[in-house]
Amino acid sequence: MTESQQQANNLDSWLDSYAARAQTLAVSEVRALFSVVSRPEVVSLAGGMPYVAALPQELLQQTYESMMAKRGALAMQYGSGQGDLVLRDQIRDLMALEGISSSVEDIVITTGSQHGLDLLSGLFLDNGDVVLAEGPSYVGALGIFNHYEAHVEHVYTDDAGISPEALSEAIDRMKAQGRTIKFLYLVTNFANPSGVTLSAERRPRILEICKREHILVVEDNPYGLLYFDQPVPDALRSMDEDGVVYLGSFSKILVPGFRVGYVLAPPAIRDKLVLANESAILCPTSFGQMMISEYLATADWKGQIDTFRGVYRERRDAALAAMHEYLPKLETTRPDGGFYLWVTLPDGIDSKAMLPLAVKELVAYTPGTAFYGDGTGHNKLRVCYSYPTPENINVGIKRLANVINLQTELLETFAKKGK
Ligand SMILES: Cc1ncc(COP(=O)(O)O)c(C=O)c1O
Repeated sequence: MTESQQQANNLDSWLDSYAARAQTLAVSEVRALFSVVSRPEVVSLAGGMPYVAALPQELLQQTYESMMAKRGALAMQYGSGQGDLVLRDQIRDLMALEGISSSVEDIVITTGSQHGLDLLSGLFLDNGDVVLAEGPSYVGALGIFNHYEAHVEHVYTDDAGISPEALSEAIDRMKAQGRTIKFLYLVTNFANPSGVTLSAERRPRILEICKREHILVVEDNPYGLLYFDQPVPDALRSMDEDGVVYLGSFSKILVPGFRVGYVLAPPAIRDKLVLANESAILCPTSFGQMMISEYLATADWKGQIDTFRGVYRERRDAALAAMHEYLPKLETTRPDGGFYLWVTLPDGIDSKAMLPLAVKELVAYTPGTAFYGDGTGHNKLRVCYSYPTPENINVGIKRLANVINLQTELLETFAKKGK
């Protein structure tokens, strides 16, 4: 036994008993930041938290009272493993906003879309299977794929989303290595972390490639309704009912506290998802589902989404203006919706190594390496502008600029000395 194993054993007397899979659980770079986020003097551009204060609390109070009067007894009880029928019907209307026509039969409610991703991964992924994903990709999904011991193959992604040519190449490469590809995972709109949206032109091309190669597409879309100017192109699922599993969530268009998401899947996959859902949690939260259902039935939810759009647009503008003012030379994506900017640092600066210095300067961000399964992304970082006020975004990016400029100066000094 090595010294570090011995030390770990001393801390945890059950260390020898864990399943091999438990080794894949690691504190994510985002999680590790949560303790920092809570310090009031730090401007956090790190965690992707929605600005829930933009939703009037009285509205939820009223929703609670009318929901309890109408369905209180049901809300306190176990429910269907597939989810509340009334809510599933309302979700059909929500998805129709992105061109999707669906049946209540094919919708499964989950504990946030994170849980939907976990259930799907449990159904499809064996050790060593390949998941194709954008580069960069959502850290929470990467954690799940890693937990199921899958290999994530990132596919080149630019301002128009994942590249069809690069996708074909990646498929050929994986096939040549004799590997099994299980699905393509995409965040199609205002992606986390890049802010990029898959263009209307590329959507059918991506589907065509996946159909030809018999690769399932997992379309994860929590941000699509949070556009700033133009609605997003129709969902991939609207163009292909059999080849796409679609995930949605109320976390960003309402609040994450209810923990309600949903999956729309072809019937055979849906059946397995319901069984997996029942096996894992018996049923999704009755209370949360009924609160959301009552909210959708009685509140001006479209108006509320407009309010969120306005809040996030103002914050996106504040973030871009501050980047322009303090870090004009850095390459930054310009999202048309959602929560995130993706920033490329000067060569030689490592965002993970720089983070403690940034925190010392009272600003936090998420290092780029969190969003790649292959250890790359050192010169990238994610700025999340959804939570701080526009004024604090400006202060935070100013502090970030101080840290980056100092790092750049140091690099230049050492480079000169090395000559
Ligand atoms: C792309 C993406 N998918 C899924 C989730 C999980 O959302 P939830 O489980 O709250 O629905 C998030 C949360 O940030 C996300 O950004």
